Amino acid sequence: MRVVAVPPEEFGAASLAALRELLAGVEAPVIALPTGNTPVALYAEMVRQGYRFTHDARLFALDEYCYPRAHPGTNAAFFARHLPPADFPPIALTAFDAADPALEIERICQDLHLAGGLDVAVLGIGVNGHLGFNEPGSAPDAPCRVVDLTEATRAQVAGPWQPTPTRGVTLGMDELMAAKSVLVLANGPGKAAILAAALEAPQTPDVPASFLQRHPELTVVCDTAAAAALSAVQRA
Ligand code: GLP
Repeated sequence: MRVVAVPPEEFGAASLAALRELLAGVEAPVIALPTGNTPVALYAEMVRQGYRFTHDARLFALDEYCYPRAHPGTNAAFFARHLPPADFPPIALTAFDAADPALEIERICQDLHLAGGLDVAVLGIGVNGHLGFNEPGSAPDAPCRVVDLTEATRAQVAGPWQPTPTRGVTLGMDELMAAKSVLVLANGPGKAAILAAALEAPQTPDVPASFLQRHPELTVVCDTAAAAALSAVQRA
């Protein structure tokens, strides 16, 4: 595991530098991308630097809310706001209002497997330790699926978007753990406790992110606030 802790103002640049490194030399990369507040600095830095994925890159959204397609709170809308569609390849996303969302996420997952699985999984981490929508209770081999969101997750997104979604679809722990490399991003003091629990406490389904400890190619980019509860060794 490699932990890079930087001052908050360098978080976006450090995240992009780590991603560039992980993608160096990877042909036709298959990449999972997160939404949420955490990756906003990364995507802003991509736009600022004029970063482009290679033309053969395949992008998959990590998860999606159970909003109707046109709702501004969908992850699809998030990506359209932060990664201008004119400059970035389309991102495979489940439309939750598809006739059968379970079938839809299965189809996307099948595409992912046909593409050879993930080269890089870029992940945020939920305050309750979820990855994507692999909520507490998720085993390390949990598949792509439709999930009921926990109260903690619902509270995290409550606010501008109403009604707060109750369900989501997600790539599974299985697909994330099988990624050749994983890049975890975390910033702000609100992530300090869960980041330490994920990286340093015993592995448990109660904190699905703790299973990342067993990933052979794990890079964590965090700001100093999120790194505050990590042991000195990790932060060094
Ligand atoms: C959300 C998403 C995750 C995201 C996480 C952290 O609920 N399902 O994909 O990584 O929670 O969100 P934030 O970055 O806003 O803290």
